[in-house]
Amino acid sequence: MPTLALVATGGTIAGAAASATDTTGYTAGALGADALLAAVPPLADVAQIRAEQLFSLDSKDMRPAHWLTLGRRVRALLDGPAIDGIVITHGTDTLEETAAFLDLTLAAAKPVVLTAAMRPATALSADGPMNLYNAACVAAHPDSRGRGVLVSFGDAIYPARGVRKCETHRVDAFAGTNAGAIGQTDPLRYFTPPPAGGGARVELPPDLAELPRVDVLYVGAGTPPALVDVMIADGARGLVLALPGNGSLPDAWEAPLAAAVARGIAVIRASRAGMGPVGRKPLDDRLGTRAAGELPASQARVALMLALAAGDPALLDLLLGDAG
Ligand code: SIN
Repeated sequence: MPTLALVATGGTIAGAAASATDTTGYTAGALGADALLAAVPPLADVAQIRAEQLFSLDSKDMRPAHWLTLGRRVRALLDGPAIDGIVITHGTDTLEETAAFLDLTLAAAKPVVLTAAMRPATALSADGPMNLYNAACVAAHPDSRGRGVLVSFGDAIYPARGVRKCETHRVDAFAGTNAGAIGQTDPLRYFTPPPAGGGARVELPPDLAELPRVDVLYVGAGTPPALVDVMIADGARGLVLALPGNGSLPDAWEAPLAAAVARGIAVIRASRAGMGPVGRKPLDDRLGTRAAGELPASQARVALMLALAAGDPALLDLLLGDAG
């Protein structure tokens, strides 16, 4: 039987409310890892599980420093011969950022699987126990090796890169890129073979305490381009623009962005549309901007933080992939 590590970080999957019918007024991260395991007795037939509580956070309060701590813990667990795979329980709200951070920094064949829940553990028909069971099945399965960091949610398995929370309340809350899920959990099977190259990875200095600041600017009709300079003056070293449509840049933003890029600020065009890629356009060559490719703005931000932390802007092109 495989041995898995369960690393609990909080979230609604560990949430508790006063009433079983309350699915919004609850405290995230209230229950410990042992309580999550105790709610799913069939896990005993899947793997031996060593549980640890790393954080007890509502994931809105997750910060890049937490990603660094989690990444180091996961690395240490993966390096141990006794662990065959890892399940991380997390809040849904910023799961896509943590998943991207781990995937962009960990090179490991052993499965690392994030899962979460939309309903607190105390709710009627809570989705957390089945999600945890499925995630453990994914982490324990030999076909999950060599696929990078995975997200198991509902009945679907997504690669970390491109996954996004796309729904505020319903239980079916995640989507991948337009290519969709790469597998399903009931019965567990993958629709595609593991990727050949495994994707670019960032090697971070071992004692890094923080990541460079990158901000996402949501651009609506008439949003003032002066915000570019405001954010830079406040300390941003990179910007991701959540732009209309397929990353369409309003004309008035061109001059401030070109000036920012000339001052060494990295800028990525992403979309506020929620789904769909943002590909390179001639204006990227003109302004020195980049396109987010298949990554949502939230994950393009993580990629840019990592490229800046590694001091290697060329790495960003690899992290953003072909479409970027
Ligand atoms: C959180 O992200 O920690 C709270 C919301 C959730 O997990 O669904």
